[in-house]
Amino acid sequence: MACPDAPFRRPRFVTVNPDHQNPTGLHWSMPERHRFVRLTGELEMQVIEDGAYRDLTYDGPQLVPLRALDPSIVYIGTFSKTLMPGLRIGYVVASGPLREQFITLRRIASCGGSGVTERALADYMSSGMYETHLTRIQGEYRTRRDAMCEALQAYFPSDAQWSCPKGGFFMWVQLPPDVPVMEVFRMMMERGIVIAPGSLFYPAEDNPQNALRLSFARHTPDTLRYAVKKIGECINSIVRHNQRLGDAKTP
Ligand SMILES: Cc1ncc(COP(=O)(O)O)c(C=O)c1O
Repeated sequence: MACPDAPFRRPRFVTVNPDHQNPTGLHWSMPERHRFVRLTGELEMQVIEDGAYRDLTYDGPQLVPLRALDPSIVYIGTFSKTLMPGLRIGYVVASGPLREQFITLRRIASCGGSGVTERALADYMSSGMYETHLTRIQGEYRTRRDAMCEALQAYFPSDAQWSCPKGGFFMWVQLPPDVPVMEVFRMMMERGIVIAPGSLFYPAEDNPQNALRLSFARHTPDTLRYAVKKIGECINSIVRHNQRLGDAKTP
């Protein structure tokens, strides 16, 4: 594929999150993975694959990482999502000169990390307990995800759009155009429920996203159902208010 020569039109690298992306929850199919790797190969663009949510797949088989399709891709993983954020341990899978540069940079940036914690984690990983732990938390998060999806179906207006993610922590909900997400955000803050307006995830403040990101990671199914019901009531009250305004304007 032809690519314009101007440097600002030709990125040096691209970072992607093919498994249960944060914030959209999107998950690439195998044809999408192949197409992406072929395209970035043609463009000679370095790919950095962020697999933060890869081990949190709740439905269907785990699809192969992009790096399995092209060994020049750099894969980044973390134990923050599956074990605990406080561990601050992640890893990079890279080949060739980039691998050596990563090792050098790591030494310079953090003097090699915490050896004791890394050794404890390595022992834990080789004991097989990580797999048992994953199966347990996948079941728990699947239940939370299902509770949130069912609550959205029950309490959100039919013209809001979302899809139930196959894994990860997040759902992306596109609101009806006449329901401003910032108004929903403010009303929910007053009720002690925090949602993430979609605009947080875009560089420009005036981006066109009238969407919100919901997380089902931290709370029990009952709390999630309660929160989604409250958000749904807030959205429906804005819809009814808009309808009353519309009716009042109609001669
Ligand atoms: C896609 C993605 N990558 C990486 C991270 C960072 O993980 P860590 O806690 O290991 O810095 C996050 C955290 O939210 C994330 O959502």
